[in-house]
Amino acid sequence: MTIPRAPRGSLFRTMRRHLPPSLAIAYQLAGDGAHEAAASGATVTLSDGRNVVDFGSYGVTLLGHRHPRVVDAAIDQLRTMPTATRALANPAVVKFAADLLGRCGLDRVWLGSDGADAVEVAVKLARRVTERTRVLAVEGAFHGKTLGALALTHSPVFHAGLEPLLGQVTHLPADDAEAVAREAERGDVSALIVEPIRGEGGVRPLNPSVLRRWAEDAREAGAFVISDEIQVGLRRCGDFSVALAQGWQPDALLFGKALGGGVVPLSAMAATTELYEPLIENPAFHSSTFGGHPLACAAGSAALEAIDELADRGREVGEVMDARLHTLAKDHPGLVSEVRGTGLLWGLELIPGATAPVIADLAVRGLLVSPCLSSPETIRLLPPMVSTGPELDRAFETLDAAFEAHRADAAED
Ligand SMILES: Cc1ncc(COP(=O)(O)O)c(C=O)c1O
Repeated sequence: MTIPRAPRGSLFRTMRRHLPPSLAIAYQLAGDGAHEAAASGATVTLSDGRNVVDFGSYGVTLLGHRHPRVVDAAIDQLRTMPTATRALANPAVVKFAADLLGRCGLDRVWLGSDGADAVEVAVKLARRVTERTRVLAVEGAFHGKTLGALALTHSPVFHAGLEPLLGQVTHLPADDAEAVAREAERGDVSALIVEPIRGEGGVRPLNPSVLRRWAEDAREAGAFVISDEIQVGLRRCGDFSVALAQGWQPDALLFGKALGGGVVPLSAMAATTELYEPLIENPAFHSSTFGGHPLACAAGSAALEAIDELADRGREVGEVMDARLHTLAKDHPGLVSEVRGTGLLWGLELIPGATAPVIADLAVRGLLVSPCLSSPETIRLLPPMVSTGPELDRAFETLDAAFEAHRADAAED
């Protein structure tokens, strides 16, 4: 394979000039002067020839990088018709709609590119159908950064300088089982939106029995229930949908991130016909130029097949993560204060101040992970389903070495 190279100094200099400079500096440090050049499965090859293990990528690479089935489907579609006329029916789009809905028991779907697209349309539909404005979300939730979704995202980190935010949103305390019934009494709630496990918020699960109660209470009050599974769905946490596995029925299920197979951007809002009604009346109620893009849909159908095929392997990788992360925490009791997560989504809580330098050190040593901006002490690990034994071994050796080095540095200070 030919590895694309850019002159070392000039890439970061140009990046500093044209893109956020702090990102350029962070990327230069993480790659130790090299940049990402190629990738396959859970391994990324850098421009200096080194390989690093990717357990980050913010959850996009559930199937790893360049899953062959997804790449082949995308290439076939590229060679035939990657873009829709949107004046004619496109079979790749219709096939993907049926493939997705067949897996989640809902009737209708709206297609977008980013997670926030799916959040926006779900809330817009709920407001239109109920003719009510208020939305209930949860403390610690993350639903995106477009202005509408941002109001649902709880963390003040993302709100600074932007208040007042759009829309009326009330954030519920995560463990308050009565909260939806209490809020709904005012009769102005259009929707309840939840992430069954708050990912960006630090890999913090909501209590399934509270969720079941909230969903019932919201329904009884005539409000819609939206399960944002953009990060946790598609078997990242074991089941295709966490809500369905927990035994509560959402009116809308949101998917994104890994839906395009880690190859193309694709998101979806799967919904009941009742919630979707405004789009049946008028498809232009909410649309976007690239929503329902044939290239993305062809990759998406292939991704859904690959995710089904890899379900057992995903479960095995999840079991390895569970066992080894708990051992790692026991080996580093002064550094790791908690291990949270399930399947292929894990959060390691470190003592205050340790997480940022450890994440930087992990990258240099050969393991990429994702931070949680609204939970700065959490290291988020998102291993792909296709992670191999050697990649898992390397990841855990790297975690152990970085934690040990941090302990030694802290002892010196
Ligand atoms: C649960 C959840 N919802 C929504 C979003 C927003 O997705 P995007 O960044 O693709 O707009 C994210 C992104 O991290 C997410 O984790």
